[in-house]
Amino acid sequence: MSIKLDLTTAGNPDLSGYQALVTQIHQKIQSKTGTGSDYLGWSTWPFDYDKTEFNKVKALAKTIQEKAEVLVVCGIGGSYLGTRAALEMIQGLYPSRKLDIVFLGNTFSSTYIVQALDRIKDKNVYVNVISKSGTTTETAMAFRLLKQFLETKYGKEEAKKRIIATTDKARGTLKTFADKEGYATLTIPDDIGGRYSVLTSVGLLPIAAAGIDIDAMMEGAKQAANDCMSDDLETNTAYQYAVMRRLLEKEGKSVELLVSYESQMAMVAEWWKQLFGESEGKENKGLFPASVNFSTDLHSMGQFVQEGKKILFETLLLVKKPMLDMTFPEDIDNLDSMNYLSGKTLSEVNLAAMKGTLIAHHDEAGIPNMILTLDDFSAKSFGYMAQWFFTACGMSVYMLNVNPFNQPGVEVYKKNMFKLLGKI
Ligand code: PA5
Repeated sequence: MSIKLDLTTAGNPDLSGYQALVTQIHQKIQSKTGTGSDYLGWSTWPFDYDKTEFNKVKALAKTIQEKAEVLVVCGIGGSYLGTRAALEMIQGLYPSRKLDIVFLGNTFSSTYIVQALDRIKDKNVYVNVISKSGTTTETAMAFRLLKQFLETKYGKEEAKKRIIATTDKARGTLKTFADKEGYATLTIPDDIGGRYSVLTSVGLLPIAAAGIDIDAMMEGAKQAANDCMSDDLETNTAYQYAVMRRLLEKEGKSVELLVSYESQMAMVAEWWKQLFGESEGKENKGLFPASVNFSTDLHSMGQFVQEGKKILFETLLLVKKPMLDMTFPEDIDNLDSMNYLSGKTLSEVNLAAMKGTLIAHHDEAGIPNMILTLDDFSAKSFGYMAQWFFTACGMSVYMLNVNPFNQPGVEVYKKNMFKLLGKI
């Protein structure tokens, strides 16, 4: 289990000049003394996560599996993206599981909300409302609708048994609300912020309810934490990636394009965008994290990458072993002239598309390409990847002299919206 990092097509520079800075930041992360150090809990979480809480997650997940047809996951940002990323990466976009998982609380879109409520109306429903602050408007709005829906459908007492609130252990409206109503509650650790929280109860409950092995996920995370223990830039791939981002930025790049070749990785890219965008886009600094899914987006964004303004570099997030595969069949008439692919597996064709694109983008268009390779789509790989990216993100953002764990800019739209809506 690992993430391989290949820098050959990113100029393969000598990174040793950054060793002293990396060591200094590494020590701050390890001793939890850097800026925003109150939120460095993720760095040791795979070793010291709360096992009692973990077992409570498993028990609640079992109840949901036994009793529900639909689990509504009500949350936004870090209280939503990691869960969806894990579900899609590990189970694919058309999973065969019994439990339908519906996401709410992640938008004000009226059509989305009404359609989602309509989809669940005749089903046996459980709700997991997730908010660390307990005050997020999108989530609180959807939760009121869900609560009223459950109460109308099942009555007040039964509705209470179908709601699980994942929130701060003491603060926030949701905590007070949950205690008053007597909902089952799960806790988000004080020292882990939203976008670093997928490996806490935030992600673990819905992920376990979907039938995914959360022990394996935490095992993968632990392995990544162990692999990232050393500050040695020769061996710590997360730190190599962190430094390379800053180097490419220095060379004039302002956009990092995360590229995947698997449709089930699209939400991983959304999760990654939040992690890096919200962590480093401050004080007029930071790379803009963008993403594409090839070959799909080669037919849209591929043109810009090949011939547009040279503002970006690519980070390929590849997965060695496909979840499923098949061999392309022979056709006796060959009217579509596709017999040149007969006998090849679909994944061989995908690999050829990746190699051909790498030559086009790197060799021919001069775009630096870092290549990250995961072993497979397993829960263990997801856990490894999440912890590895947390580590890389912490290092890379600290290198900018920015606090990776706050998001002051997010408050600005809220302030204006509340004024417009007459909130006092
Ligand atoms: O990373 C973060 O802290 C944010 O993106 C939050 O996850 C997001 O705003 C949702 O917040 P909350 O869980 O408090 O509802």
